[in-house]
Amino acid sequence: MKELMMKECPQCHSLVRLWKECNCKDATFSCCGEAMKEVNANATDASFEKHVPTYEVKDNKIKVKVNHVMEENHYIEWIGIFAKNEEHIFYFHPNEVAEVEFPYIENATLYAYCNLHGLWKADIK
Ligand SMILES: [Fe+2]
Repeated sequence: MKELMMKECPQCHSLVRLWKECNCKDATFSCCGEAMKEVNANATDASFEKHVPTYEVKDNKIKVKVNHVMEENHYIEWIGIFAKNEEHIFYFHPNEVAEVEFPYIENATLYAYCNLHGLWKADIK
């Protein structure tokens, strides 16, 4: 399992991904004059069922879906599968269907990102 580390600007909501965590005690990333905040998965007060990715495994592939609206101002921006040695991300646009097929990877983690409700995840069993 691999944790995805991201930080968000509380003002403009820009996102950065951390490839490696800094261990110094004053590590701060800032944007718009403020410290960026850690993005935690499944932490937003929004419908769990509409954001957490669901999946189906078949023939060494995994079909991942998010049961979410795909409107101009509210949609799933991407779905990803993250594992120890590889990761895959598929990006969506409004009016598309938030559904994608990846190679199946045992013990990987699925992530989905809603433009309004942030990061969601599900571990593959
Ligand atoms: Fe949402």
